[in-house]
Amino acid sequence: MVEKAEAIFKEFREHSIAEFFKKNRQMLGYAGKIRSLTTIVHEYVTNGLDACEEAGILPDITVKIKQLGHDHYEVYCEDNGPGIPKTHVGKVFAQMLAGTKFHRFIQQRGQQGIGATGCTLYAQITTGKPIHVITSTKNGKVYEVDIMIDVKRNKPVIMNEKEYDGDWHGTKVRGEFKEVTFNWSEYGPGEYIRRTAVANPHAKITFIAPDGRKITYNRAVSVVPERAKPSKPHPKGLTIDDLLEYAHHSKERTIRTFLVKTFDRMSNAKADEIEKLTSIDFKRKPDSLTWKDAEEIIDAIKKVKFLAPSTKELKPIGEKQIKKAILNVLEPQFHAVVTRPPSVYRGGVPFIVEAGVAYGGKAGRVVGDSVGAEIMRFANRAPLLFDAGADVITKVVNEVDWNRYGLKKVDTLPVSIIVNVVSTYIPYTSAGKQAIADIEEIHKEVKFALMEVGRQIGGHIRRERKKYEKQTKKMTLLKYVPEVAAAVAALTGDNKKELEMKLVKMIEKKYSGNGADEEEGEEQ
Ligand SMILES: Nc1ncnc2c1ncn2[C@@H]1O[C@H](COP(=O)(O)OP(=O)(O)OP(=O)(O)O)[C@@H](O)[C@H]1O
Ligand SMILES: [Mg+2]
Repeated sequence: MVEKAEAIFKEFREHSIAEFFKKNRQMLGYAGKIRSLTTIVHEYVTNGLDACEEAGILPDITVKIKQLGHDHYEVYCEDNGPGIPKTHVGKVFAQMLAGTKFHRFIQQRGQQGIGATGCTLYAQITTGKPIHVITSTKNGKVYEVDIMIDVKRNKPVIMNEKEYDGDWHGTKVRGEFKEVTFNWSEYGPGEYIRRTAVANPHAKITFIAPDGRKITYNRAVSVVPERAKPSKPHPKGLTIDDLLEYAHHSKERTIRTFLVKTFDRMSNAKADEIEKLTSIDFKRKPDSLTWKDAEEIIDAIKKVKFLAPSTKELKPIGEKQIKKAILNVLEPQFHAVVTRPPSVYRGGVPFIVEAGVAYGGKAGRVVGDSVGAEIMRFANRAPLLFDAGADVITKVVNEVDWNRYGLKKVDTLPVSIIVNVVSTYIPYTSAGKQAIADIEEIHKEVKFALMEVGRQIGGHIRRERKKYEKQTKKMTLLKYVPEVAAAVAALTGDNKKELEMKLVKMIEKKYSGNGADEEEGEEQ
């Protein structure tokens, strides 16, 4: 029997974004017990670092994970950021698609307005419990509250509100989660925090693990990174839909001023050029733009030449700072770093690639009793631990011929390969934000960066090898000194001790210094 449309459509319902993610929690990174725990730590730590950065505060972050039972943990995260105004706390932790970042073109770790609420949702669906938040904006008051989410309405449910006097700023969040587990693998929270320390040398991070181990990553630099500033979208990256949305929210009086004020590199002259290519009167109000008008404008934009997007708003970690972080956390034998010049993907989004290689010391990943290479991937300084196979960085690392740089069988060496992609919009492959899409321009930049650090590290390795060879030769020669001195003394009648001293001096002179001047040594 054929079912009537009316009967089928009795089932028609609307559902909220929170209901959607409740069913599709894997999209937010809640897949697998270890990954789920790391995701929670990631969401709270990135929010703390973003908040500090925006407020110009040197971050001091503490993460504590306590085991409460089998696959059952408490996560506590504290930051010394600016705090959250009382009126916004509910929405921050229990409303999906709410935040200060999504609508701005600014380089930050978070960008979607889902992370914190995702954690609340996961606590709620695995334990039925709210998350506990204490925050203060240094206004003399501390606000403490339990928060759950009304999943059907995607709205916060506030409970046990308290307000009392206090004089500090920051945010403390505590949540209880099941279907999570802790370990020290490269996918666990411990590794996540280690990598966060590598990319954030200005942060002090303390981690207290469920086994009681306390690890503190002290600041390697004590300057607050320059704040990333919001940038304007570049016309070449616009779609018709984007243009309409900006136009309909614009408060400008004419299409012309709307274009000039809203977009990067859009001068009056460019707006005139575009107007001439369309049949639209640019004195009209921006909210009168129709789909057809927007289509015409986008077509015209394609024909007009614009300067490349401005990149001054991007803030890479910087070579000096990466060096300090590498020395602080990895204590390698040698290392190399590079920050590439800014570039642009999809015609309109600026980005910068930074890379580093650390060799020896604590670099590389210990597996059992051997050490192997590790790839540390970062997006706007936030570590990416999962979905490595889908990530452009992993692909490029595998493409590079490391043999050329003296790193034969790189997989088996104590090497950390570090890549940070900085952008006002990181093109993630999914809402879980763990892999950067393989976009041609980004691919190319990552490759250049890795080749550059490869060349540098290759030089170090060659020098180091020569130094080692020189040292071995010296030791061998010194071994024969007494015998040679005795033989010469017997032949010439000279004093054996004096001869010995002369020979030692000669050898020391020839093989002193580092490997770089070996050739010179050979001539002597
Ligand atoms: N520790 C904090 N201190 C101050 N503000 C915070 C803190 N945590 C979150 N916020 C605010 O709450 C908003 C929502 O956070 P949430 O993690 O849900 O989204 P996001 O960071 O904007 O993006 P993403 O979903 O990519 O993480 C943030 O945009 C920020 O304004
Ligand atoms: Mg966030």
